[in-house]
Amino acid sequence: MPSPNIRVIKNSSDLAAAAADAVIHAAREAIQARGRFTIALSGGSTPEKAYELLAKPPRVAQLDWSRVHIIFGDERFVPLDDPRSNYGMAARTLLAHVPIPRSQILAVPTHLASANAAAQAYCHLVAGHLAIGPDGPPPRLDLILLGLGDDGHTASLFPGKVALDERKAWFIHSSPGVLPPPVDRITATFPLLNAGRWVIFLVAGEKKKNIVHAVLTDQSLKYPAARISPDTGNVLWLLDSAANGADNYRSEQPLASGGT
Ligand code: 6PG
Repeated sequence: MPSPNIRVIKNSSDLAAAAADAVIHAAREAIQARGRFTIALSGGSTPEKAYELLAKPPRVAQLDWSRVHIIFGDERFVPLDDPRSNYGMAARTLLAHVPIPRSQILAVPTHLASANAAAQAYCHLVAGHLAIGPDGPPPRLDLILLGLGDDGHTASLFPGKVALDERKAWFIHSSPGVLPPPVDRITATFPLLNAGRWVIFLVAGEKKKNIVHAVLTDQSLKYPAARISPDTGNVLWLLDSAANGADNYRSEQPLASGGT
């Protein structure tokens, strides 16, 4: 893994603020350069505070929400109003509170008959929304937010699963990993994740420090998160000091402007 860009933030509250500010920075840059901001939200619990901060003053006024287009890096194959739904979490913490045109929020169609059908339909939904072909190269999303599971998974790319080997589809069905919730998933694939202009990992808490160290020093690429290495984009790890553990990675510069 090329030497990662890491910022260590004192605590989880400051981490959430840094993450929210990084989203705003990336959005402003994208809107200025390309007239819109495309972001893939992460699920899990870590991003919740950052989403809440984006949805209220002062940050909520710092973004032209009419230019924001939201997709999901992964989703559980459950109804959108199910408490396990990543869409449901994002709606509760952010989407219900900001003036994004509803047509610019692309939920994974988990009402379809199978996770496989939902993944295929989602590829077409995202392609159509971004006006690109669904069978071509993946879109270069402006920002992809990712979490890190205790087993080194990210999005719903779990160790040892066939989804890791997908080289063409942008989204794929992923059978449950060992970590809860044990439900089928729809996940972005490495081709899509590694096409991002910016990929930001948000990791907090003492219990993540060992896996953070393992992933950031992993040469075997056995951890899915270690295989996030955008072709021409940038990766930023935002860690709180508890997740950073004793490694005390140097605090790098904040999200640099000019994210490619
Ligand atoms: C999901 C997430 C998953 C998550 C990690 C970390 O659907 O659960 O996409 O990849 O980001 O498991 O989860 P926490 O933030 O809850 O630790």
